[in-house]
Amino acid sequence: MKNIVTLGGSSSKNSINKQLAEFVGRLIHNVALTKVDLNAFEMPLFSVDIESEQGFSSGTTRLNEIFEKADGFVVSLAEHNGAYSSAFKNAYDWLSRIEGKVWRNKPMILLSTSPGGRGGQTVLEIALEKFPRMGANIIGSMSFPSFYDNFKDDNIVDEALKIKILNMVSEFEKEI
Ligand SMILES: Cc1cc2nc3c(=O)[nH]c(=O)nc-3n(C[C@H](O)[C@H](O)[C@H](O)COP(=O)(O)O)c2cc1C
Repeated sequence: MKNIVTLGGSSSKNSINKQLAEFVGRLIHNVALTKVDLNAFEMPLFSVDIESEQGFSSGTTRLNEIFEKADGFVVSLAEHNGAYSSAFKNAYDWLSRIEGKVWRNKPMILLSTSPGGRGGQTVLEIALEKFPRMGANIIGSMSFPSFYDNFKDDNIVDEALKIKILNMVSEFEKEI
C-alpha cells in the first residue's frame, strides 16, 4: 500500500492547514497516511553554526526518514505575512541540508488556506515557483478560501470547491 504524507505548514495546535491536508489525504483511496504535525519534531532555529557544531536533531532526522519513505505528499501551507510560517520554513531549511530534493520527485497536492478570501494565495504562489526546484512533482494545487465558511464538521461545504479537490485527488491517484 502506498504511503502518503500529509503535512500542515504550521505549528498551530488546531492548524486549519493541517485539518485540510488530512481531510484531502482521507479522500485518496487505498493509501496509508502518515500525518505530520510539525510540533512533534523538535528542531532548533536553523543556523549553519548549530548544524556544524551539533549536527541534526533527532526531530530532523526522523522527519527526513518520513519524507524518504513517502510515495506522495499532501501539503497545505499557512501564510504568515505573505510567506511560509516560521515553523515550516525552519523544518524545510533543516531538511534541505540532508537532501536538497526535499520532496524526492514524488507526486504532491499543494494547498493553502486561511480564514480570509485569498486562502493563502501568496504563499501558495511562492511554493508553486520554488517547490519544483526542490524536487516537488506538483499534480494539483489550490488556495482554499475562507476556511471557516467553506469547511464545517470536517467536510467541505462549498460544492464547487469540493469538486475541484476531488478532481485533484483522482489525478493524484493516477500518479502514485
Ligand atoms: C503572524 C501571522 C501572520 C499572518 N499573516 C497572514 C497573511 O499574510 N495572509 C493570510 O491570509 N493570513 C495571515 N495570517 C492568518 C493566518 O492565515 C491564520 O492564522 C491561519 O489560521 C493560519 O493557518 P494555521 O491555522 O494552519 O496555522 C497570519 C497569522 C499570523 C499569526
